[in-house]
Amino acid sequence: MKVLVVGSGAREHALVRALDLDPQVDAVVAAPGNPGIAQVARCRDVHPADGAAVAALAQEEAADLVVVGPEAPLVAGVADVVRERGIACFGPSALAARLEGSKAFAKEVMAAAGVPTAMAHVCTTGAQLDDALDAFGAPYVVKADGLAAGKGVLVTDDLAAARAHGLSYLDRPDGAVVVEEYLDGPEVSLFCLSDGDTVVPLDPAQDYKRLGDGDTGPNTGGMGAYSPLPWAPESLVDDVVERVAQPVVDEMRRRGTPFTGLLYCGLALTSRGLRVVEFNVRFGDPETQVVLARLASPLGVVLHAAATGGLADLGPLRWHDEAAVTVVLAAAGYPGAVRTGDVVDGVDDAAALDGVHVLHAGTATDAQGRLVTAGGRVLSVVGVGADLEEARRRACAGADLITWDGVQLRRDIALPR
Ligand code: AMP
Ligand code: GLY
Repeated sequence: MKVLVVGSGAREHALVRALDLDPQVDAVVAAPGNPGIAQVARCRDVHPADGAAVAALAQEEAADLVVVGPEAPLVAGVADVVRERGIACFGPSALAARLEGSKAFAKEVMAAAGVPTAMAHVCTTGAQLDDALDAFGAPYVVKADGLAAGKGVLVTDDLAAARAHGLSYLDRPDGAVVVEEYLDGPEVSLFCLSDGDTVVPLDPAQDYKRLGDGDTGPNTGGMGAYSPLPWAPESLVDDVVERVAQPVVDEMRRRGTPFTGLLYCGLALTSRGLRVVEFNVRFGDPETQVVLARLASPLGVVLHAAATGGLADLGPLRWHDEAAVTVVLAAAGYPGAVRTGDVVDGVDDAAALDGVHVLHAGTATDAQGRLVTAGGRVLSVVGVGADLEEARRRACAGADLITWDGVQLRRDIALPR
């Protein structure tokens, strides 16, 4: 099987790495990929959100499967264009991708499917925003309706800040914001594969969204993750499939917009039970880096089954009896204005450690052939070990060997909170 992976982050590097380990996968091509991915796959310079170009590349490469990593191409309909050419694609249609592309739409589907989530008001005017903030009280949770690259959500006790955040999105054309009830309790990310009908869960992971140790500082795309979750209730995965993922997949099929791909269920385990915080329609970053490090089933076979209606015949997934921790290394300035071009040292030394591998995201090669920073999240260092403590030690040891001017990382990933 030949697979085309669309995207250029550490999530896509993790996908390419796992696909490369599947004996049934003969070749992996990435569009556009990055310098780390280029060590395992051929990279082609195609823009991920250009559906026609992605589909043409898949045809030219005679790909048997296209795997779309990021949300923007999915919301833009890249999977539709690929499927129209008769090529199997892992990733939802534009209509199904609205589960991530519009928080108001996701709320509507959850209401129709009876899925537990935070109570919410969708606001399109300043007056509605004020009423909703007043109705829910502090802590305030204000979310941009559309895609906002992880920057759309503000959780704050400061009413003026909540108002300003909401107004900044309402001021845009077709701007809408969702104001919702604050959810307490630990968060869990559960990835569920769907072929439009059958749901197959992966093992849960936990993501660290804030920039600083102890969950301080601004929200980011994610600064680290670990899996499995030894503290999670044993029934968690079954509960989420039964009460969240399967009802949503059934509702999407009933609407004539079946969901094929990965439904990322972002959950809060609150004092009043399980609640959905958000859906994403693709693998999470950085959770994928740890979940795929533990997956023993062949990834190409699994994703092909999901893309072609074959999940019911796949059987349960197999897992390595090990733990995985990833530490994200981010560039100076992240998550604000990022400085690029800083020379990165130590990647090979880190990757040479036992149980450590390094995944690239925002990296580039400069004119002298040196590895330099080229984006916000630059690298994901993954440690695998017998238990979380060993995996954590390994990931941190790897991270400590990698240096550049202004590197930012958290040292508390997978520590008991
Ligand atoms: P989202 O983009 O919806 O996942 O939100 C980003 C982060 O904001 C989540 O991972 C949570 O940490 C936080 N968040 C979102 N919604 C809520 C909520 N209703 N209550 C508390 N925290 C939330
Ligand atoms: N880790 C959060 C996300 O992928 O959106």
